Amino acid sequence: MSARYQDIARQLERRLDAGEFPPGSRLPSVRRLASEHGVNSLTALAAYRWLEQRQRVLARSRAGFYAALPPADPLAHPAQALPSPATLVEVDSRMSQLLALSGSDIAVQLHMAEAHHSLYPSQELARRLQQTLAQRPELIGAYLPAAQEARLRRLLQSLAADWRLDLPEEEILFCNGITEGISLALRHLTRPGDTVAVETPVYFGLLQTLASLGLKALEIPCTPDAGLSLEALEFALQYGPPVRCLVTVTNFQNPSGALMPDDNKKRLLALARRHGLSIIEDDVFGELYFGNQRPTPLKAWDRDGDVVYCASFTKSLAPSFRLGWLSGGRHHEALARLRASSSLVSPALLLGALADLLASGDYARMSQKLRQQLAQQMERVADAVLAAFPRGTRLRRPQGGLLLWVECPEGLDSGRLLEAALAQSISFAPGMLFSAQPRFQHCLRLNFGQPWNAAQADAIAALGRLATEQLRRT
Ligand SMILES: Cc1ncc(COP(=O)(O)O)c(C=O)c1O
Repeated sequence: MSARYQDIARQLERRLDAGEFPPGSRLPSVRRLASEHGVNSLTALAAYRWLEQRQRVLARSRAGFYAALPPADPLAHPAQALPSPATLVEVDSRMSQLLALSGSDIAVQLHMAEAHHSLYPSQELARRLQQTLAQRPELIGAYLPAAQEARLRRLLQSLAADWRLDLPEEEILFCNGITEGISLALRHLTRPGDTVAVETPVYFGLLQTLASLGLKALEIPCTPDAGLSLEALEFALQYGPPVRCLVTVTNFQNPSGALMPDDNKKRLLALARRHGLSIIEDDVFGELYFGNQRPTPLKAWDRDGDVVYCASFTKSLAPSFRLGWLSGGRHHEALARLRASSSLVSPALLLGALADLLASGDYARMSQKLRQQLAQQMERVADAVLAAFPRGTRLRRPQGGLLLWVECPEGLDSGRLLEAALAQSISFAPGMLFSAQPRFQHCLRLNFGQPWNAAQADAIAALGRLATEQLRRT
């Protein structure tokens, strides 16, 4: 027979399993738990300590107990298995599950957020890497020498200046893709249990990062037309729980494709200032603009160093090189220290090759070619969707990036649509992945970074047919 405190702990564990307390949320106080079960505080505390040992709850000094992430169950996600739409919605594994889809042999893959490998200048980069290596083989055996690091920082500084973003050279820090930059910024700006404002729909990788840090997401509406709603954010800051910081994708948001107008960028900064809100700006898609001018990051108007700006070459040049960088404003030094304990440095060979490429001036040509291809493919995919999907389907053609957000008529279940699509060897990202709440079920995100061909056209026509059939049957 188990002790009373274990009974109480097990009951609480069942409530945790049922999702009543999401990871990072505050649990009932010891006194409240004790009174709920008619026991004294010591018994309630023993229940919490038992759950703490099992890593189901986290104790924070003087702040009480918080829900931890559910324990990893190695059997729940076998490495090679194709994820089912049901497992895709686990917040703490969405990104990993989608990556598993990429490794599969699905014929037409429309679920990812990077372009097809053939669109990147792989041959030319391979040649350049060989050159860099032949000229400087020492880059294999040592970290990047300080002088070369400073050279790359100056090159990035001048690249950013072209987008009207003036950054001090010493406020540029390399990191492993934006993913590491955002993690570092969140680790610095928050503590487990804090609330972070994010856009909704939101990039599910961010939800996974928040979950892994024990943070709660407060979702603020973001529409393809207007981007993040500043009115909703202001309302949340006034009447909602205390918000520690905001993570926003200002240029060609994932998944909506929204571009935040410059005026809104300035208003957002003023709003954040008034409420003491730090901002993490994720500019991962900024380089993939279709117009004449690259959009200016929010950071360009940040006079007080409140914005941690994160950029990366993962979408615009070479996804697997993981060449990210950030500019941390007044948080910069702290972020540089955290980076040293996170992944220390980036591979010297890749940094060296990037510096050579930027110095050569060829990057502009390469990225222009990619942008032109993406702009053409976007039109093809958007046309095909409008031709094949059920009446009432809406989309807005994005002005950059590589993602198309498709809103089907209410009633469509994009999870079921994915199941049917996978059976025909087609993948896409279903809408419900883009919120921790049950939202966007009727939406889907399509990648238009794949070269347009007959297989693509057939796949989108098939998706349209499947969606129409599903709606007819409901
Ligand atoms: C909005 C957003 N931020 C960050 C990332 C990841 O960026 P990186 O590959 O530079 O880590 C992605 C990738 O899809 C993304 O869509």
